[in-house]
Amino acid sequence: MSNHVTDTAPGSGTIATEVVLPGIVEPEGLQIRTRALLAPGPGQAQVAVKATGVSFAEQQMRRGKYYDQPPFPFVPGYDLVGTVTAVGAGVDPTMIGRRYAAITKVGGWASDVLVDAADLVAVQDGIDPADAATLLINGATAYRMLHRVAKARPGQTILVLGANGGVGNTLVQLARRDEIRVIGSASPRHHDALRALGAEPVDYRDPDMAARVRELAPQGVDAVFDHVGGSGIVESYRLLARGGTLVSYGTAATRNEVGSSRKPVLALIARLVAWNLLPNGHKATFFNFWAGRRNAARFRAALRDDLTQVFALLARGEITPQIAARVPLTEAARAVRLAESGTVAGKVVLLPQH
Ligand SMILES: NC(=O)c1ccc[n+]([C@@H]2O[C@H](COP(=O)([O-])OP(=O)(O)OC[C@H]3O[C@@H](n4cnc5c(N)ncnc54)[C@H](OP(=O)(O)O)[C@@H]3O)[C@@H](O)[C@H]2O)c1
Repeated sequence: MSNHVTDTAPGSGTIATEVVLPGIVEPEGLQIRTRALLAPGPGQAQVAVKATGVSFAEQQMRRGKYYDQPPFPFVPGYDLVGTVTAVGAGVDPTMIGRRYAAITKVGGWASDVLVDAADLVAVQDGIDPADAATLLINGATAYRMLHRVAKARPGQTILVLGANGGVGNTLVQLARRDEIRVIGSASPRHHDALRALGAEPVDYRDPDMAARVRELAPQGVDAVFDHVGGSGIVESYRLLARGGTLVSYGTAATRNEVGSSRKPVLALIARLVAWNLLPNGHKATFFNFWAGRRNAARFRAALRDDLTQVFALLARGEITPQIAARVPLTEAARAVRLAESGTVAGKVVLLPQH
């Protein structure tokens, strides 16, 4: 990464290193900036970031294609794990020195951040920060979609698209742990890894993929988890067994299309709503992690519950974080290239150097 900007705005305390997305750029257009962090205000905590994930969202954001991304320039970074180093007024000072996680949507790709202390979820001692970071937005999304939306049960069969990805492989692991049969789509280079997780792989580039799924599950599947959207969503819906649920949660198919970031999502939701009106026993829903955010207390409590469950599974070794690579924060361009390469299984994690 060639661009290095130093912001000399007055601040107090720490000099933070941040990765800035200045506009629609190739990964190499990401900039590294240092700036003086303000002291935490009322209700805030300052966190020294130990690990922060690269998500599909940043692939969309650098193309200006994420549904509600902030105006450029901004610091990306969907989630982070770190140690609290200072707190503002009204925040429990015993948080200082302890490890926490936060899902921030943006801002995480930094050495030090200010966050609302109420958004922090405790991470048990002994859990590696990169391991925990791998299971934040991925873990919360997968856990909720499987248990709260699809309500999948042991003995059922589900189809997970993009099963080698961050959310996808977490879904596979959570489901297999509950003795749910999993068919997972991925490119062939990832099929052995999927088999090792207990999933039955199919190739998402195979034009007859739906026929392969039907061979494996002639009665249809009880749930499909589809982050691809586009025209393929029709096939996902058709693969459902009676009473099955389509959980749509992304529009990866339109990532490279020029135009509105909102239109593909809204068109998809309209289609799902229309399908739900059909009297065929199928359910179709769009999962949005941020739904319910307006009721901040309830949203935070539910997230704390879900992440605490995920961390407990991690601590007991019942799910294994799939880390594709650990990359220094200042090499974010390489990390994004790698995440977009189609060669990785699991999550690329950025590690700030303190
Ligand atoms: N709705 C929500 O609240 C919510 C929350 C979190 C994430 N998400 C969505 O979840 C998705 C996965 O996120 P992530 O961070 O796990 O991404 P990721 O780690 O980059 O994984 C993406 C996966 O999608 C696969 N893929 C890419 N294009 C595809 C296509 N056209 N057809 C089938 N598979 C394709 C990739 O396969 P290859 O590696 O073979 O290319 C990879 O397995 C994203 O679409 C993201 O927006 C939604």
